[in-house]
Amino acid sequence: MLTLADNMLLEVTDLVAGYGKIDVLHGVTLHVAAGEVVSLLGPNGAGKTTLLGAISGLIPVTSGTVRFDGNDMKGASARHYAKAGLAHVIEGHRIFSQLTVTDNLLLAGYDLSRHERTERIETALSLFPEISAKRDDKGGALSGGQQQMLAIAQSVVRNPKLLLLDEPSAGLSPVLVDRVLTVVSELKAAGTAVLLVEQLVDKAVSVSDRIYALAQGHMVVETSADTSDLHHRLEAAYFGG
Ligand SMILES: Nc1ncnc2c1ncn2[C@@H]1O[C@H](COP(=O)(O)OP(=O)(O)O)[C@@H](O)[C@H]1O
Ligand SMILES: [Mg+2]
Repeated sequence: MLTLADNMLLEVTDLVAGYGKIDVLHGVTLHVAAGEVVSLLGPNGAGKTTLLGAISGLIPVTSGTVRFDGNDMKGASARHYAKAGLAHVIEGHRIFSQLTVTDNLLLAGYDLSRHERTERIETALSLFPEISAKRDDKGGALSGGQQQMLAIAQSVVRNPKLLLLDEPSAGLSPVLVDRVLTVVSELKAAGTAVLLVEQLVDKAVSVSDRIYALAQGHMVVETSADTSDLHHRLEAAYFGG
């Protein structure tokens, strides 16, 4: 039988992190197994973006540990993270507006072999027909939703073991929200684990295996996505029950 520890990809334990002398996360513990989709919910200002940043090395860790694929990530460089198979699509898409869609994707896979890079770019574009049709257009000519898709596609080019997505649906039309969440399910089917931060609770839950909720820097909910009293528990978490 496969035990929890056998396929553990991300293990965050008693994490304390913040900005300067101010701690935002007060001892947070969370895990993501290989191939799992896990949603991280919680009200604005709860520390969700800070937690993703601490996991991916953008924000220094004060105490506690982040283990990824069996390795302690303390002091690891961004390059090390990329090599280890962890990709982070930060809040608010970041793409190169002066470069074409294809060049944005080529850049994302700069260190892959030519063959692998071409293959990965086609895989990434196949997930997003909307931008595949615009592969020769400049990034800046895409709609906000298409730029968000391009930002996710850039991470897909790296074929990560774990993808961190920070509010990928923000600012998108309902149709594009569904497209992005469908891609989350497609990535899972292809074996990629996803840690998803979302404001759209029902949409997030519908594609997730497990749910966490943060409130004021504390993990207040950890549960399977099919728990019957999930809404009740989230409500209590959001409104301080
Ligand atoms: N760059 C920063 N410098 C100082 N404080 C910050 C910074 N970014 C966020 N914070 C604070 O950290 C807390 C958590 O923010 P954040 O992680 O962005 O929450 P969430 O993503 O859950 O909305 C908030 O109180 C916010 O004001
Ligand atoms: Mg945030």
